[in-house]
This record gives sequence, C-alpha cells and structure tokens, in this order.
Amino acid sequence: MQVLEKDKKYLVQCYTTDEIVFTRGEGVYMYDEGGKAYLDFSGQFSSDSLGHGNKEMIRALSDQLKKIANVTSCFPTEERAALAEKLIAITPDGLDRVMLGVTGSDANEFALKAAKLYQGGGKIISFRRGFHGSTAGSAAATGKSETIQENPSISELLPNGFIHSAPPYCYRCDFGKSVEDCGFQCLKYLEQTILQEGGEKVAALITEPIFAAGGVIVPPPGFLKGVRELCDKYGILLIFDEVVTGLGQTGTMFACEYDNVVPDILVTGKALTSGYVPGSAVMMRAEIGKKLDQVMLHGHTHSCYPLACTAALKNIEIIQRDGLVDNSRDVGAHLHELLKGLKEEFPEIGDVRGRGLLQGFELEDIPGGPDKWTLGQSLYEEMLKNGLVTELESRHNLGNVVVVLHPALIVTNEDVEKAAEIIRKSLMTCRQ
Ligand SMILES: Cc1ncc(COP(=O)(O)O)c(C=O)c1O
Repeated sequence: MQVLEKDKKYLVQCYTTDEIVFTRGEGVYMYDEGGKAYLDFSGQFSSDSLGHGNKEMIRALSDQLKKIANVTSCFPTEERAALAEKLIAITPDGLDRVMLGVTGSDANEFALKAAKLYQGGGKIISFRRGFHGSTAGSAAATGKSETIQENPSISELLPNGFIHSAPPYCYRCDFGKSVEDCGFQCLKYLEQTILQEGGEKVAALITEPIFAAGGVIVPPPGFLKGVRELCDKYGILLIFDEVVTGLGQTGTMFACEYDNVVPDILVTGKALTSGYVPGSAVMMRAEIGKKLDQVMLHGHTHSCYPLACTAALKNIEIIQRDGLVDNSRDVGAHLHELLKGLKEEFPEIGDVRGRGLLQGFELEDIPGGPDKWTLGQSLYEEMLKNGLVTELESRHNLGNVVVVLHPALIVTNEDVEKAAEIIRKSLMTCRQ
C-alpha cells in the first residue's frame, strides 16, 4: 500500500491538511517522495532552530543514545543538571529554578499548577486569540475559541476559573481605536477584568509576548510593561508562554527581553530541542520553585530524559556559538521589509507583523478578488506547489486569515528573498 493510502486508512486525520509525503530534510529544505525541494518556512510548527539534518546535533544525540537515553525524573543526571544550569544562565535575571517537560502544553499546564499552588488557588486570566496548548488547563487558557471552547467534545473537559481578556491586537482593535490614540484601552479593560474577578483572587495571568498562532499579533510597545504593573498591583503571578518565541526566534533569546519585562514564570518548548526530540522547560522565581520542591505535582515519564536534555544543550551551544540570535534579528528584519514590499504591491495584504524570524501577513477582501478565506487557502496551496511550506492561520469566528512564516534560525538573506519571490508569484496566480 502507498504511504497516503495507508495513512488515510489507519490514522485519525484530525490534523492532516496536505498530501505531500516528506522523506528527507537538509538545512532549511525538505524533500518529498519524488525528490522535489521545499523551503521550510513553517519551522514545523516553529520547532526547528538549526534546520533539518544538523550533523553536530545528530552526532550528539547518537553519542547520548550509546551512553544512556532514558532515566526517569526520580534520578539526577549530568545532562539534566547541565541543562538546568544553562537555562538559568540564558533566561532573564530573577528566574532561578527549572522544571523540565515534554511538550509546550504540559509545560504550560505545570506553570498554571505551580501558580495556583504558590498562590493558594485562584483564577487564571489569559487573552482572547492566545494559544497555550491542548491539555485541559492549557486549552482552557487558550482564547482561540473556534477550536476549543466552542467544541463540546473539548469544552466539557475544561476546568473552570479561566477568564479571557481583550488582546492587544491593534490591527483589529476590540475597542475600535488606533494605536496612536488608544490610551491602552486593552490594559484598562484588563484591570476591569481583574477587579471583576476579585482582584487578589486571581492567581496568574498567562500570555504569549507575541501571539503566534493567533496571527503573529505583536503587542504595542508598553503593553507588556503595563501587564506587569497590573500583576504587581494585584499580587498576580505573570506567566510568559514563550513556547514559540523562546530561544532566539524573535531576535532576542527570549521575546520578553525586547520589552525588558521579566515574568514570574517563563515557559519554553518547541525549538528548545530544535525539534529533534520533544522537550520543554519552565523557569521560575526561586521562591516558587522552593514551594514546589516537596510536592508531587506534575511529571511525565519522559520529562527529564537525558536524550532531550542533550538535544537542548547542543541546540543552545550552536545558537550561541554561531550567533543565530543575531541572524534571527537581521535576516528577520530583511524578511519583514520584503513582506512590506509585497504589501505595497498587493492590496490583498492588509498588514505585515512580526519580530525576528517570526513573521506574518494578514489577508483582506478586495473588490473583484476572491474573498480572504478562499485566497488564504489557495495561496497556501499554491505556495506549496511552488516549493514553500508556510503555516496558515485562518479562523472564521475570529475574522482573520494570516500566513505565518517561521523559518529556522540558520536561514539566509538569499533564502528569504527566494521565499518572498514564491509568495509574490503565488499571489499573482491566486488573486485572479
Ligand atoms: C504559544 C504556544 N504555547 C503552547 C503550545 C503547545 O505546545 P505543544 O504543541 O508542544 O504542546 C503551542 C503550540 O502551538 C503554542 O503555540
């Protein structure tokens, strides 16, 4: 039986959208069964920092496999101690303890439990359009309602006590304001939400510093500082979900550095291990960690296994040695300019947003053209046909269609120029 046939017959197809079978990857390219090359500008759901087939990573993992792959979290290992030390060294000052996880969802789940335990219970505030994962707590914090809260098979599993406030989405401001004269209505609304929920009865607020899956929503300068101030005012723990933005993806090691705001708990995953094996981490203030020391609160079989620790250590070593955070900032800025150039050429592009190598462009209806939903889907498919893999975020109930670009940190100016040319060519075809 052919791969596609077998896949369709035996696998639940809840995530499958495409019929391309990738068999090989090298750097920022992936190759299908027929040997056709595709520029990977999805980073495989933003999990890929070093690109495919990195030889140093493969060697490190192979050495680790020969040494020992799997030790439960009951036992300390050289690898997990080294990774914890390294993570503390690269996170903003003030975050001094680490818990390791497997996925972004379970790491967020842990962060929420930790916050509730430390605070003695309380509600959780997050933002509409945010995404935090697919386990119960992380899904309840997620504000992308079409897929989660409005789906009864999922919503009936969600815990109570999760409240969603207005997102800092200036392009589609919930208050109809423009960023120049809004007076931070979304922060005022957030304070009202906190008060409505009992002020100090709120345990934590969780947010992405840039809302990735919500459509690369970059909060305006001052928003995250304002959130920090409100959390301090009401004794609320601030959790930054840097599962997408962590480890250099937005041109700083962590996205919160850009705004100079330090959370109480910082969560990272996805590209922590460059996607070679799963792994995630939660960094927190020392006193939160101390309170958790004696509690059997959370853990997974593979939470701290040496193979994942080695992948993360090697990934961070290469990112630092090869200046990949700077590359993310510089090449990302070039990609941003190229997309802005496309916006000038194509009125279908309503907005270009992003920082570093996390970039997105939002599509609009234009008179005489296909509607934005049709355009988004056909553009995504046409780009694939032309050899460019992207991520399409398109939700009718949220009203936006955004093409998300998130290539590996090793991407070059030539690669992003090639990608921009494929987008241009594909838009030309799809707008007709
Ligand atoms: C910001 C954010 N947090 C958490 C998650 C969940 O991560 P995972 O899919 O590894 O569970 C995602 C996944 O897309 C995400 O975008």
